[in-house]
Amino acid sequence: MTSPTVAGKRGSILDDSRLTITDNEFRQLRQFIQDHTGIALSEHKQALVCSRLSKRLRHHGLQHYSDYYVLLVERDPGGMELIAMINAITTHKTEFFREQHHFLFLKEVVFPSYQKNPNREKPFRLWSAATSSGEEAYSLAMTALEAMPSFNEKNINILATDIDTDVLSHAANGIYTQSLATQIPEALLHRYFLKGQESNEGKILVKPLLKSLVHFHRLNLLDNPWPMHNKFDVIFCRNLLIYFDKATQSDMFRRMAGALRPGGYLMLGHSEAIHGMNEVFHAVGHSTYQLRGKS
Ligand SMILES: C[S@@+](CC[C@H](N)C(=O)[O-])C[C@H]1O[C@@H](n2cnc3c(N)ncnc32)[C@H](O)[C@@H]1O
Repeated sequence: MTSPTVAGKRGSILDDSRLTITDNEFRQLRQFIQDHTGIALSEHKQALVCSRLSKRLRHHGLQHYSDYYVLLVERDPGGMELIAMINAITTHKTEFFREQHHFLFLKEVVFPSYQKNPNREKPFRLWSAATSSGEEAYSLAMTALEAMPSFNEKNINILATDIDTDVLSHAANGIYTQSLATQIPEALLHRYFLKGQESNEGKILVKPLLKSLVHFHRLNLLDNPWPMHNKFDVIFCRNLLIYFDKATQSDMFRRMAGALRPGGYLMLGHSEAIHGMNEVFHAVGHSTYQLRGKS
């Protein structure tokens, strides 16, 4: 149960484990989280920080969030606790074919014009930044294979990155509960997934062909520079930048422009938009932007 906050007093926020967080502890951790992930948590996320990090305190046998903060800052030279803290605090909501209009745009505009272009650079390179547990990346792979059936892992390359190592290992395993099958069109489900058996009973498994197109790696988008050298045809960075402050968002848009081929596309989440970069990107659809310049 969560009780309302009382400024500065321990006992202000309770969770099931009876751990409490003071306003000062919340402010310290909130700043630490923003510095390391870019995620700018608002004042009313105190209960969320308390509950999501409570398992880390329990893991270390700590009673106070201030002690956990000291652990992060002074007693984590290898950065292992930083990774565990990030895995606990991040939000991973995603779906297969989420915000379907982007997949339609790829199918109807991007892939046909790429195939027609005699000077196209190969392979076709997609980046799913902030990919979460893989649904977005595998949806991209299915869309690409459907639109360009003669292509394979040699001419379609999908990089899928996230800051969270737990969601990435889930993504790389490519095993999902059967209930998610409703998000995938029937024909694609049959073509690209297997029905789980024995220990995977009740699950669906991504087929090796689909997996071969996607490469999962950990990447914190705040890292500068990014380790990729080749430019992308399309970047999906959806439903993350909304949590960043305006300055960090602008910085991301500039860096993503630098990571795209001329004429390449940047897809954002439904409530995200680029403001004031008209000389760099132009809007070509809902939360869909094209980098200016000839492809
Ligand atoms: C809400 S999910 C979005 C998943 C997917 N793009 C979609 O729209 O369905 C946001 C993801 O961003 C990741 N994330 C948070 N901070 C990040 C950062 N600084 N760098 C890279 N990924 C980050 C989280 O771990 C989470 O998996």
